[in-house]
Amino acid sequence: MGERERMVAALRRSGSVFAEDELTELHRAAPDEAALAAMVARRAAGEPIEQIVGTAAFAGLRIRVRPGVFVPRRRTELLATIVADALAGLPRGARLLDLGCGSGAIAALAMHRVPGLEVVAIDADPRAVDCARENLTAARVVLADSPDALDASARFDVVAANLPYVPTRELALMPRDAREHEPLLALDGGPDGLVPLRRLAPSIAARLAPGGRVAVELAPQQVDAAAGILRAVGLGGAEVREDDALGATVLVAR
Ligand SMILES: C[S@@+](CC[C@H](N)C(=O)[O-])C[C@H]1O[C@@H](n2cnc3c(N)ncnc32)[C@H](O)[C@@H]1O
Repeated sequence: MGERERMVAALRRSGSVFAEDELTELHRAAPDEAALAAMVARRAAGEPIEQIVGTAAFAGLRIRVRPGVFVPRRRTELLATIVADALAGLPRGARLLDLGCGSGAIAALAMHRVPGLEVVAIDADPRAVDCARENLTAARVVLADSPDALDASARFDVVAANLPYVPTRELALMPRDAREHEPLLALDGGPDGLVPLRRLAPSIAARLAPGGRVAVELAPQQVDAAAGILRAVGLGGAEVREDDALGATVLVAR
């Protein structure tokens, strides 16, 4: 068995469904054979390939991803597209808050598609903040666990919130890559998955400019409860957007 076959077999044994493709991707990212062997070992041990090669594909962009940082999901392209479309319809200089920005993928797509935005991105995890600063060189990226940390006068036309929304009891059902290599802070939404949104909803509402909108990614079964949380802080007109192909659900309120 040649070296390549041995590596494919190691990836396959560890549960990789697309072992050949993954090896090609690792090969492209590895500067030499020793680095490739180390990368294959990390992948075989369950680390997400995006954290190993250092980038993730997202809506046609390459987003920098670091070890320990939430890997942007394809489904979040729906939220990011809704946000970019909303901002594109506003005069130049519209303001976006990416709350729980992780790598900064949502803001990155908005900034790529809409020139002249003012963007603030917040995350409570210093590793995410470092990573987002690499992806969002023209934005302000703030280490904070709430928009309350921003200047009292800061207001936004759009708030994007892909906060953790997995109910705690469902964490065990997540793929091993996520469970072992993404921080709990990025995944755990508490008993009903809506604890972070419930806690942050008042400060989201306080930060919306007149006519402003918040767009929240969640699971389909959370829509009614999330709309209630937003209504309780004065945000109504809730509209549900879904993309079956992506398996994505987004709630937009104003
Ligand atoms: C599901 S990940 C989403 C990351 C990114 N928005 C994306 O779509 O790829 C949730 C992110 O929210 C952050 N987070 C969790 N609680 C937070 C809080 N109270 N304030 C700010 N960020 C928070 C986590 O650190 C994590 O990066």
